[in-house]
Amino acid sequence: MRTGEAPHPHPGSRSGWAVGERERGGSSFHASRRKRHGNVFKTHLLGRPVVRVTGAEHLRRLLLEEHNLVGVSWPQSVQMILGSSSLANAIGDIHQHKRKVYAQLFSHSALESYVPRIRQVVMETVREWCAREGPISVYAESRKLTFRIAVSVLLGSSPGEEKMIDLLTTFEQLTKNMFSLPLDIPGSGYRKGIQARDRLHEYFGKVIEDMLQSDAEYSTALGILIQSSKDHGMGMSMQELKEAMVELMFAACATTASACTSLVLQLLKNPEVLTKLRTDLQIKGFQSGSATPLRLSDFCHLRYLDNVIKEVLRLQPPVSGGYRVALQTFELGGWQIPKGWSVMYSIQDTHNTAPIFQQPDIFDPDRFANDLTKGKEARFHYLPFGGGVRRCLGKELAKLILKVFAIELATGSHWQLATRTLPKMLMVPVAHPSDGLKVQFSAQF
Ligand code: HEM
Repeated sequence: MRTGEAPHPHPGSRSGWAVGERERGGSSFHASRRKRHGNVFKTHLLGRPVVRVTGAEHLRRLLLEEHNLVGVSWPQSVQMILGSSSLANAIGDIHQHKRKVYAQLFSHSALESYVPRIRQVVMETVREWCAREGPISVYAESRKLTFRIAVSVLLGSSPGEEKMIDLLTTFEQLTKNMFSLPLDIPGSGYRKGIQARDRLHEYFGKVIEDMLQSDAEYSTALGILIQSSKDHGMGMSMQELKEAMVELMFAACATTASACTSLVLQLLKNPEVLTKLRTDLQIKGFQSGSATPLRLSDFCHLRYLDNVIKEVLRLQPPVSGGYRVALQTFELGGWQIPKGWSVMYSIQDTHNTAPIFQQPDIFDPDRFANDLTKGKEARFHYLPFGGGVRRCLGKELAKLILKVFAIELATGSHWQLATRTLPKMLMVPVAHPSDGLKVQFSAQF
């Protein structure tokens, strides 16, 4: 079936795709389509047909058959900006090999070595928010926070404040133009994206050269990559290292900033959860600005904090879904999906309709104390980090950042909404409040 053709039900299935209407965004639109047509329906995105898929049963099948039924389908601009050696552009065995190399950056010992760096940046940032005279835009400030963490954890070296601001501006230019028409002409979004990428590569190139010349112990992601390629005699080229750094920053920053913002918002809307979290942290001896170093093992007993973070990621998953292309014509939920069509698996709709979550619109961290939400059965009902061979590589790092951030916020600050009403949530490119979430922070004690 070609794009734009008439409905094409799978033999013996229901009578035709839901066709014709354009993707308008907004979950009520998709909810009404789902009610009419079920968990697999056709919609449109930028004038092209997309099959939107919801529900654990279908997601399990799609995500476990990556490379066979479906494959990645990034727009050309993403492929060009991230580069030919990026994970996003890799498939099959090459993808698997690259994931193994990258996975070293998220091992237990690697995460342990990142904790002091993350904590330092988070403490400085929250203190600075509290010292501000007026309200801050939490989403914009969280993007700065996650960028600073990414520079510290991935590269290690501190470029100095002026250079940091320059790098952040360049990175925002790259992110803004990542999804653009691939027209390489002066002033086009695509050209701006490529230029931003080149400036980042130039800076990363210098850091890599310095690191290659020094004998220092590596406690950064870049250092781990360099060391491991030396140890295994399979050196990553300069280009591969630079592309890896850009790709990891791109995957890490907006997603984690979205989750930080949703955490602030949910704790604002649910003061009883914040009180319970503060009490639990106090009982367990956590204090803002404490000089005692934090270790990964300190987070093991923070069950309530764990559940708060899980619930933030359930109710407002930063990534609302993932795009794939059908590699062959196949049947899903009684419908035939033609080869070459785009398929979108919806994380947000799956969370909203999962039978394991009662009253899904309510923010209730205690739901994760329930056995139904644990184990293999729950796996594809709850997937803020995706699933299958392309599941998020930085999941544990993201959760670690969120925990350090939540502890610092809850133990050291107080915050109030600076607008009359709560903002609406937008889902593209990641979940974020329409006005950025204007909040006044102050030091708690
Ligand atoms: C992939 C979510 C943070 C690195 C993914 C995917 C999701 C996701 C849903 C799968 C996308 C798909 O199926 O197409 C998130 C969320 C985060 C987060 C919600 C924060 C709360 C991070 C961080 C890093 C990272 C901190 C690394 C520093 C990656 C990479 C992939 C990925 C490299 C691609 C894996 C592959 O293609 O094999 N992430 N992510 N993410 N994520 Fe994350």
